[in-house]
Amino acid sequence: MNFSKVCVIGLGYIGLPTAATFATHNIQVIGVDINPEVISILLNGGLHISEPGLRVLVQDALQSGRLMIGSTPEDADAFIIAVPTPFKEYEHGSYNGQAYRLADMRAVTSAAESIVAYLRPGNLVVLESTSPPRTTVDLVGPILEQSGLKAGSDFYLAYTPERVLPGKIIQELTENARVIGGIDEASAQAGRDLYAHFVKGEILLTDATTAEMVKLMENTYRDVNIAIANEFSRLAKRLGVDIWEAIDIANRHPRVKILNPGPGVGGHCISVDPWFLVEAAPDQTQLISAARHVNDEQPHFVMKLIKEIIGDDLSGKRIAALGLAFKPDVDDLRESPAIEVVKLLAEAGAIVHAYEPYKLDADIPGVSTVATLVDAIRDADLLLLLVGHRELKELEPSRMLELTPTRLAVDTVGGWEGKSWTKAGFKVIRLGVGK
Ligand SMILES: NC(=O)c1ccc[n+]([C@@H]2O[C@H](COP(=O)([O-])OP(=O)(O)OC[C@H]3O[C@@H](n4cnc5c(N)ncnc54)[C@H](O)[C@@H]3O)[C@@H](O)[C@H]2O)c1
Repeated sequence: MNFSKVCVIGLGYIGLPTAATFATHNIQVIGVDINPEVISILLNGGLHISEPGLRVLVQDALQSGRLMIGSTPEDADAFIIAVPTPFKEYEHGSYNGQAYRLADMRAVTSAAESIVAYLRPGNLVVLESTSPPRTTVDLVGPILEQSGLKAGSDFYLAYTPERVLPGKIIQELTENARVIGGIDEASAQAGRDLYAHFVKGEILLTDATTAEMVKLMENTYRDVNIAIANEFSRLAKRLGVDIWEAIDIANRHPRVKILNPGPGVGGHCISVDPWFLVEAAPDQTQLISAARHVNDEQPHFVMKLIKEIIGDDLSGKRIAALGLAFKPDVDDLRESPAIEVVKLLAEAGAIVHAYEPYKLDADIPGVSTVATLVDAIRDADLLLLLVGHRELKELEPSRMLELTPTRLAVDTVGGWEGKSWTKAGFKVIRLGVGK
């Protein structure tokens, strides 16, 4: 199938690089967003998101004249939906007394609705947003059919998940293997014809629901494996074992790869996507649901470690919270467990001085974010390592002695070498270390 014009709905971390990449591969693109601020920034040559290489890519695309930006869709050969799919903030499901989160599909619904008036026979529509299984068939298809056209016979409909890593999006967009699931074979093949314009990785064709499930399985697999590492860390603490040593030894087994425990699981993918599977079949997903709960409880487990070293009454205690991002060496704070911990500390009356080297202006109610490491540590009653940023792991304990009179530390990520801190005069509790 031939494509000369593509309309991309949603110009965020996924939609904008996708739109610009099509445009730099000889396709005419109209990029659409409902947020007027996004449109105005892009039309003025700016960028509303930060991603290495994106500025140059978008500039090239705009200068080529093949990328246009607008607030409503236009006629096109293909439509791509790349809008957010968070979970609902206040509404929960419940199964056997256990709560689970529900997907908020309003953006996908309104994006699909916005296409209806422009849909023509022979068009292809592709959903890229991470979605609960059967969304393409049960939600997007029926909305598009309000056009009077029938999915599968009058237009093609497919799902392709995005598996890029923030920080490497531009490279991975073209190089990663891509799964494309059609509501029928012809739709999957139409999807391949479209993405083959720029994808250099393998393109795997399947049906739409399998493609949706593949994406959710990938992130759920990681979530469950982190949950078991977190549970191991709790056991190790109780049984007098050093979890970091135990994992290191266990991973010498040729078929074992235990992940690292930590203060929880964050980011807007791994901590969200497993709930889409739970919502789809709460009676079949006890393990997935339990893993989510284990990971969500981990900040509370960290609070226990803090109380163990500093006492139950945290009011007025000065805590230097080091790192807020959801993983090392990124500036992304979305769903970060470190933020959960600092919020719990603030609720307990502690005076939190948080230092996030990648986002100095982070705004968290009840928490002061400080501009330097020294500002965080000076006069702190406790040093709390929440993220394994390189700068924080490399902290030299002997340099901290004069800044912190009490010399107490909690390491939640296995970032500090216990012996050197003890030698320097600190009392240290490390997550998962019971000896
Ligand atoms: N960011 C990632 O690294 C990543 C990786 C894999 C998958 N995903 C998935 O991709 C999807 C998009 O994520 P993102 O990170 O690009 O989101 P984002 O929040 O960065 O951007 C989404 C954009 O869509 C716009 N939008 C919302 N509703 C719209 C509508 N009805 N019409 C037009 N525009 C609309 C928003 O204004 C926003 O600019 C999500 O389902 C996400 O889970 C993201």
